[in-house]
Amino acid sequence: MNLNYIKPNEWKIVEEGFDKDNVTASESLFSLGNGAMGQRANFEETYSGETFQGSYIGGIYYPDKTRVGWWKNGYPEYFAKVLNAPNWIGIDISVKGKELDMSQCKIIEFNRELDMKEGVLNRTFVAELEGGDTVKVKSTRFLSMKLNEVGAIKYSVTPINFDGEISFSPYIDAGIMNEDANYDEFFWEILDSREDRNEAYILSKTLKTEFHVCTGMKIEMTLNDLLIDIEREVSRSEKKIRYTYKSEMKSGDTLTMFKYGGYVQSMNHPKRELFNASRRSLEEAAEIGYDDLYQSQKEAWATIWDTADITIEGDISAQQAIRFNIFQLNQTYSGDDSRLNIGPKGFTGEKYGGSTYWDTEAYCIPFYMSTKNKEVARNLLLYRYNQLGKAIENAEKLGFKNGAALYPMVTMNGEECHNEWEITFEEIHRNGAMIYAIYNYVNYTGDLEYIVSHGMEVMIAVARFWSQRSSFSSEKKKYVILGVTGPNEYENNVNNNWYTNYLAQWCLKYALENLDLIKKSHPKEYERILDKTGLEADEAHHWREVVKDLYFPFSEKHEVFLQQDGFLDKELIPADKLPRSERPINQKWSWDRILRSPYIKQADVLQGMYFFENHFSLGQIEKHFDFYEPLTVHESSLSPCVHSIMACALGREEKAYEMYLRTSRLDLDDYNHEVHEGLHITSMAGTWLSIVQGFGGMRNFEGKLSFNPIIPKNWESYSFKIKYRGHTIKVFKNHEGCKFYNESDSPIDIVVKGQEVKIFNQDLVVI
Ligand code: BGC
Repeated sequence: MNLNYIKPNEWKIVEEGFDKDNVTASESLFSLGNGAMGQRANFEETYSGETFQGSYIGGIYYPDKTRVGWWKNGYPEYFAKVLNAPNWIGIDISVKGKELDMSQCKIIEFNRELDMKEGVLNRTFVAELEGGDTVKVKSTRFLSMKLNEVGAIKYSVTPINFDGEISFSPYIDAGIMNEDANYDEFFWEILDSREDRNEAYILSKTLKTEFHVCTGMKIEMTLNDLLIDIEREVSRSEKKIRYTYKSEMKSGDTLTMFKYGGYVQSMNHPKRELFNASRRSLEEAAEIGYDDLYQSQKEAWATIWDTADITIEGDISAQQAIRFNIFQLNQTYSGDDSRLNIGPKGFTGEKYGGSTYWDTEAYCIPFYMSTKNKEVARNLLLYRYNQLGKAIENAEKLGFKNGAALYPMVTMNGEECHNEWEITFEEIHRNGAMIYAIYNYVNYTGDLEYIVSHGMEVMIAVARFWSQRSSFSSEKKKYVILGVTGPNEYENNVNNNWYTNYLAQWCLKYALENLDLIKKSHPKEYERILDKTGLEADEAHHWREVVKDLYFPFSEKHEVFLQQDGFLDKELIPADKLPRSERPINQKWSWDRILRSPYIKQADVLQGMYFFENHFSLGQIEKHFDFYEPLTVHESSLSPCVHSIMACALGREEKAYEMYLRTSRLDLDDYNHEVHEGLHITSMAGTWLSIVQGFGGMRNFEGKLSFNPIIPKNWESYSFKIKYRGHTIKVFKNHEGCKFYNESDSPIDIVVKGQEVKIFNQDLVVI
């Protein structure tokens, strides 16, 4: 595959010229989504070369029975997989009886553009078929933000050097398999299908989970922009309905198909209503009409960009990259449905099963919280609140009791479905991220009521887990947390991972503090919470004991907290001494070698210092940065952003910029050689953080919103907006200084470079 084949452009992702080797990478990069569904950028017409077909519906998954070499008690029964859904985009084209297949014909011109400003995918190409007949093809596709069950395609073919028959065969195909299936099963059962008047529908259901999905298409055609009615031929099998429309064309004529398609599903409609609901959704789209639907798409994206956009002047590839990250995050999650979440690959691939990870709480929430209304972040919190019962069951399966909760590492419905022991049983720090997210949300939005109405129950259950998971070491005379994996997955079964212990202690303290607060401020609610959770006084007493006496490994010599008890036994050779040919180590080394090495996959101690920066002095942070960063190989996409933010805080602009480039163009430049599998959606939130918290220096500690902007040398300026407690604030920074613009109706106090400033409405403050 060619790296860097994407052309620089401020608002578009552009591919020029056709290279078969780039097809699967581009299928990821040009993906579309509207929060409710998404799809890889597969071609509409047949493609017989290598491709990775993918279309996904938010919330629809299959519990694929676990397959492991050696079963361990406590393993989840299944891995929840986002399902590759029926294909509604397909349009086979034939030219004088010959199939148009880009893999087989000569491609004379090819241009593909993902227009991020408007939320549409455009493709044009000129193809010469065997025998010399040449056609020009233009397709535009989008998944509607206005009607989130509908997508639309405008697909045109123009014969360039011949007169003759062209046929379009649009279809819906429900016979779609996942590439990743443990037992090569077909995960769907086809229930019924209907077709009539250029419309076709297939109703299918997922095995085991019994989600019902109706996939539909509705076709309209024009010849040289005039609506035409062509007799259709129907070919119908159990899983597929395909129409064929044939037209005799003259050279220069343009035949265009408008295909409306998409899914309605049983999470949103009664099962028996699905055929009707599908028909209604497509009829509504057709009534609005392609042009107006397109217009509404532009408007929806204009609204998103109005707050979410980040501008960067003087560095076009950085500009393109940040918009790409923001665009993909908005395609993945729109925030109005608390049953949905953000999978690490979003709707762009099957890896990670499309499920929810701690990534949401640790990385994504700040992005959605600052660029959308607070209900969006609240919905993400509610997702976990609603899964509390399952988290308690997960903990019970592992032997915890009395309402202790262990949130899953990977989940669709709240049940754990990761099945590597070192992660399932040991990577328990994720439990802390759930509470950190509540703190982060409440601290940012001021919505203290959330703690009373929902958060406290989660905090109690998680505190119970930590108090049971820690044990007393009579040797150390301290509480210890044994046998864990920290965020650095390149060490397993270690004792006293500093990050895990720190979070555990903080969760216990935070729960105790909030219990006290609620007792005073909301006595009735306090009683309700005690009643519901059955919390006893001696439990809280034990939590205090653990808080007081939890152990933290520390090196007097290096003056740093140690990643875990045995960290100093390792040979601490900096990662830049490793030969290039041995990187990335997770592809070049045996797991045994990795585990014994000092190399850190992603921020671990530094992740804790990033979360709780206000608990440490800058000097302490610097010491830890200098100790751990040189050992970090950044082989998780979640790593560079945290380092970029910390480097900014330490005034290390060059390091910050190096890390920023790695996070922002990770997929566009395919740093990790895996973009064909899908995009790294959750780390895209980290890219946003690298600008807003990194270069912009935004912090929100102790109820004060503060900024400390710096700018990379080769940028002329940058700007971003954030929503904060009813205000929208625009921050602009260039080499002369920074400007703050308050777009809202009331004044706000902020701190800039340590100085308090009040910005009145519509005020521009130059510093
Ligand atoms: C990282 C985890 C992360 C997961 C999904 C892994 O490579 O180590 O921290 O949750 O990817 O993004």
